This record gives sequence, structure tokens and C-alpha cells, in this order.
Amino acid sequence: MLSERTIALVKATVPLLQTQGEAITSHFYSVMFANHPEVKTFFNEAHQASGTQARALAGAVLAYAANIDRLEALAGALPRIIQKHVALGVQPEHYPIVGKCLLQAIREVLGDVATDEIIAAWAEAYEALAGLLIAAEEEAYGANERRPGGWRGTRRFVVARREPESELILSLYLEPEDGGPLPAFLPGQYLTLVLEIDGETVRRNYSLSDAPGKPCLRISVKREEGGRVSNWLHVHARPGTVLDVLPPSGDFVLQPAPAEGRPLVLVTGGVGITPAMSMLETAAPTGRTIRFIHAARHGGVHAFRARVDALAAAHANVEALYVYDAPRDADRPHATGFVTKELLAQALPPDRDVDFYFLGPKPFMKAMYANGVALGVPAQQIRYEFFGPLEDLGADC
Ligand SMILES: Cc1cc2nc3c(=O)[nH]c(=O)nc-3n(C[C@H](O)[C@H](O)[C@H](O)COP(=O)(O)OP(=O)(O)OC[C@H]3O[C@@H](n4cnc5c(N)ncnc54)[C@H](O)[C@@H]3O)c2cc1C
Ligand code: HEM
Repeated sequence: MLSERTIALVKATVPLLQTQGEAITSHFYSVMFANHPEVKTFFNEAHQASGTQARALAGAVLAYAANIDRLEALAGALPRIIQKHVALGVQPEHYPIVGKCLLQAIREVLGDVATDEIIAAWAEAYEALAGLLIAAEEEAYGANERRPGGWRGTRRFVVARREPESELILSLYLEPEDGGPLPAFLPGQYLTLVLEIDGETVRRNYSLSDAPGKPCLRISVKREEGGRVSNWLHVHARPGTVLDVLPPSGDFVLQPAPAEGRPLVLVTGGVGITPAMSMLETAAPTGRTIRFIHAARHGGVHAFRARVDALAAAHANVEALYVYDAPRDADRPHATGFVTKELLAQALPPDRDVDFYFLGPKPFMKAMYANGVALGVPAQQIRYEFFGPLEDLGADC
């Protein structure tokens, strides 16, 4: 239990955190990576460089300080952080490192304002939050281990086959080297690969792109220009290559349809299609009405078209709509340009009572969020994932 005094002192720093939060978290990362290079392997350099990681942490610290006397207000935000930490393998012993460096950064950025009393209050508050996360993460690690086919830590998987899905996206089919069962997972969840590249350990998340219960796990990787892991996988991952894999995680998952059978709307852009494929493969045979809307630049980079067409042909409940913004001459999309509000409106029933899932590049995400809200989809039925740290979709859409 935090004392009244601690709560008051932490809350008093909220206005400062509002203006200095990102400066503190950016400084925090440089302090931590300089003094504890052993934790650098967990973090993605591109997320550091773009500032999205610092913003996500600053947002979390601010939300914590503002709600320290009513932590239940944070309940919605914590599962994602917990899933992210568990996906990457964050351990209890890392918390004191983060805590020490965060306090040092607060002191150094705020200067004289950060009195010893304020720092002591923050130390106590951090410890309380860390305790909460450590306990919840242990529960999630245990659940991952106990689920059918589950495990803890890394497990070795062998690439059984590779299959191009478009000019940019390559699917890898993975089998456990130990010959044991595959894990039960929820459509929408992702694996984490832990790779050694040029003597450095790097971790990356990849969504499972097929339904659970298949003979292999499938991930589908877009080759990113200048991207370290995606290029490595496109070049080196061949049948027989062994990959270290952390168990499936993530809370962007297909929710069961209510008894009255609410329609499912999956809207994706580019490689954001991968978790939606797992959801589509799972939901199509259930008879649930599905609108599968996919945006791509053109046919050459449109992944899984043949498979989605086959599902739509086999299941009358599935309808696909492809939108290309830069079609090639031979391309046959259903529409050209972007996925506009008007186009979405045609795909939604008049009562807008749908489960609306979306994923794609940031501008696409902002537009889909704004469109979903403007068209009247109930807020609790709008779900999205980021292929990176959580970002604000509402601010300037
Ligand atoms: C939950 C989740 C699920 C995901 N699912 C998928 C999926 O199904 N398929 C998929 O393809 N991807 C997926 N991703 C993204 C994936 O994890 C990787 O981020 C992606 O493959 C890029 O990794 P990379 O190592 O190739 O690129 P990185 O090396 O991380 O680089 C990414 C970009 O940033 C640039 N960059 C790198 N370092 C710096 C720097 N220091 N300064 C400036 N720019 C820099 C690179 O040039 C490149 O353009 C998912 C991510 C998450 C969080
Ligand atoms: C109380 C302490 C902590 C808080 C409040 C916190 C908060 C967060 C938040 C908000 C995110 C972004 C989640 C998202 O993607 O939306 C995140 C991601 C992450 N956290 Fe933590 N965290 C804490 C401790 C730690 C510790 C101890 C580690 C271990 C080294 C750690 C490692 C990471 C990593 C690696 C990511 C993903 C980074 C990326 O995407 O590049 N965190 N955390």
C-alpha cells in the first residue's frame, strides 16, 4: 500500500511529466543502454529511433502517476504491456535495472525540482507497479507453459518450408525440433523469434498467419528495406534452418461471436493482413458473416489473394474486397484509391453492430479508427494491433 504522502508527491509531478515525459524516457534509454547493455537485446532499435518506444513508455508512466490513487483506471492498458513483456521474455531481474535508470533520468532531466522526497516517492511507486507487472507476467508465463503444446523460454523450431505470398512477403512454416505438439494459440497472436545476427541477439514479433490446429505454425514476413531481421529471414531461412522461438502472445485476438452472430469486419493494409488471415481461416468455416477488406499498393504486393478468393468461393458467408492505390495495368481490384469512409459504409450493416478489426501502416490505422468511430461502430467492438509500440490514433485524426 502506498502512503498518502507518496501518492500526493507522485500526483504532484503529473504536470511536469506531461511536458517532460518524453525527455525523461528518451534520457532513460540512453542511461540504461550505456550502463546495462545486457538489456539492449530486448529493445528494437527502429522503435527507439522513431521515438515510438519512448512515447509509449512516457504515456504509461504518465497514466500511472495520474491514476496512482485509482489503479483500476489502468486496467485496460496493462494487459498489452504484460503481453508485450511476456512475448519478449522480460524477467523479474530486469525491473530493478529499469527502475534505477528511470529514477536517474527523472532526477537528471527535472534537476532541482526532483527533490530527494520526490525521488523516494517515485521509487516506492515504481516498486509497486513493478510488483504488479512481475506477478501478472509470471502468471502469463505459467499459462503459456501449461497450455497444450506450450513451453517457457525459447523452443527450437525448424523451417519446414518457405512459400512466397507476394513480391515482398514470404511465409515460413515451422515445426518443433523436439517433435512435440504445437501450441494452442488464439487467432491474432504472434510469436517472437530470437536470432543471433552478426554477433548480436535480436528479437522480433511475427503474427501467426494461419488458423490454430494446422500441422505447422506459419509466419509471413515482409521484407523491410534496411530491416535487419526480415532481410535475414528472406535470405537465410530455408528448409532445415533452426529458429529460437518464444511462445505465442498478444491480446489482439479474435473474440468469439455472440450467440446472435455479429458480423466480423477485417480491414487490413499491406503486411497487416497476417493476423487477419488467421482470424479469417478460423472464422470462415463457422458460417459467421465476414467482410474481408484488404488494401495494397498493387497486385504484385497483394499477399494471400488466391487463398482469400478460395475461402470466399467456398464459404458464402465470406466476402472479400480488395482496394489498390497504385494498380498495375493487369490488376483487377474491386476499388482503387484508399479504404474510405464511404467504401467502409457500404460494407457495414445499417446498425453498425459488427466486430471491427484493423491493422496496417500508421496513416491507414488513423484513418480506419476515425472511420470506424464516425460510422458508429460501438467503441468496445473496435480492435486493432500495432506492428510496433502502441501509438495514439485519436489525437489528430
Ligand atoms: C505484434 C507484432 C506482430 C508483427 N507481425 C508481423 C508479421 O506478421 N509480419 C511482418 O512482416 N512483420 C510483423 N511485425 C513487425 C516485425 O516484428 C518487425 O518489426 C519487422 O519485420 C521489421 O524488422 P526488421 O528487423 O526487418 O527491421 P528493423 O531492423 O527493425 O528496421 C525497421 C525499419 O527501421 C529502419 N531502422 C532500423 N534501425 C534504425 C535506426 N537506428 N535509425 C533509423 N531507422 C532505423 C530500417 O531501415 C527499416 O526501414 C510485427 C510486429 C509486432 C509488434
Ligand atoms: C514498471 C515498469 C515498466 C513499465 C511501466 C513498462 C511499460 C511499457 C510500455 C508502455 C511498453 C509499450 C507497449 C506497447 O508496445 O504498446 C513497453 C514495451 C516494452 N518494454 Fe516495458 N515497461 C516496464 C518495465 C520493463 C522492463 C523491466 C523491461 C526489461 C528490459 C521492459 C522491456 C520492454 C520492451 C523490450 C518493450 C518493447 C519495446 C519495443 O517494442 O521496442 N519493460 N513497456
